[in-house]
Formats: sequence, C-alpha cells, structure tokens
Amino acid sequence: MSRLNEENLRMARQIISMYPKKKSAMIPLLHLAQEQSGLVSNEAMTHIAELIEVTPAEVLGTCSFYEMFKRHPVGEYQINICHGISCHLLGAEDVLDHAEKSLGVKEGEITKDGKFSFDGVECVAACTEAPCLQVNYRYINKVNSDGFDELIADLRNGGKAEIPKHGRLANIRQKVSSEKLAGPAGVEDASPPVWLRRNKEEQ
Ligand code: FES
Repeated sequence: MSRLNEENLRMARQIISMYPKKKSAMIPLLHLAQEQSGLVSNEAMTHIAELIEVTPAEVLGTCSFYEMFKRHPVGEYQINICHGISCHLLGAEDVLDHAEKSLGVKEGEITKDGKFSFDGVECVAACTEAPCLQVNYRYINKVNSDGFDELIADLRNGGKAEIPKHGRLANIRQKVSSEKLAGPAGVEDASPPVWLRRNKEEQ
C-alpha cells in the first residue's frame, strides 16, 4: 500500500497537465494508482488528493463509486462471472460452482499463487453471449465448465497476452501530442457549464 512511486508521480504530473482543471485528472490518476499496486490504497488516494488539490474524501467518493476500482486485493486476473438473468438461465450458476472447485477458493478470495480471484456479478451487458464472464474486464463468451478450465490453463501458461494484469488498463499507453493538450486554465478562463449559465441569466 503506497503513495505513487517516482515514475508514476512523473506520469501523474503529465496527466494533470493535460486538463484545464487539476480535478479532472482524478479518474486517470486512480487508474494509475491501481496499475501500480493492483488496488487503490488509502495512501494513494491521499496522494492524489494532494496532487489535484481536493480532499481525500472527494477522491474516496469517486473511487468507491466505480466497481472497477478495487480497494481490497484481488488476483492478477480478476474474473467476473455474470449471473444476471440471461446468464443464470443458461448455466451461470454451474460455472460459478465450478470456478469455486476448480480454483479452490470462494468468491472474493484469491488463489494462493495470487493469480486468480472471482466474483459473481450482475448483467455485464452481453446477454446475447450468455453465459459470459470477464477477465480483467475482457469478455469471454458462452462459457461452460470445460471452457472455464481451458481459460484458466491458458492464463497460467501465459496465453491470452491481450489480457493485461489487473490494474493495467491497456497494454499500449495512449500518447497525446503536446498541441492537443488542454493545458491548465486560469479561473477567469473557465467558462461555466451551459446549465449554470442559464440559471444565472434567469436570476
Ligand atoms: S445477464 Fe449476463 S450478460 Fe446480461
């Protein structure tokens, strides 16, 4: 559990410089923290709050809203097994039972080698592909128990290179050329949102 390391701190400052307002960098910085430690620690949230000049409570408020940000340890591969209605009707409970036996851990636990954890989740919006699951938010469709075991074997053997370890959003980091950066804006430059302007005009 830690604050952002030196390299990520440099990256965080670069990210902040892309936005007119520091606060707008909050979500990318939360992803950066999660990439560093596999989860978002309290220390990292406090560090982010300092960098973007908000309170730690504001960072926690955003972090805790999104399921993709984990504040507890998960495996290198976090598997979300959908058991929404379509997946349920097509055998998701069997896949869940099988996952527990095959991995030797219960929902929310991590395998001894730190590689896998799994959760039953509500509809992940791929009902036509039911029953389905996600590995670090990459979809695997029409899964059954055999397919689940093949998937785990593949991941253990370094297959599925397209699925990054938990916390890493993508294998290729997006680069924004300097002429496209928004850059910091002074308060005087910041125009209020349309709805706020309208309210002010009506007063
Ligand atoms: S119910 Fe599983 S994807 Fe919708």
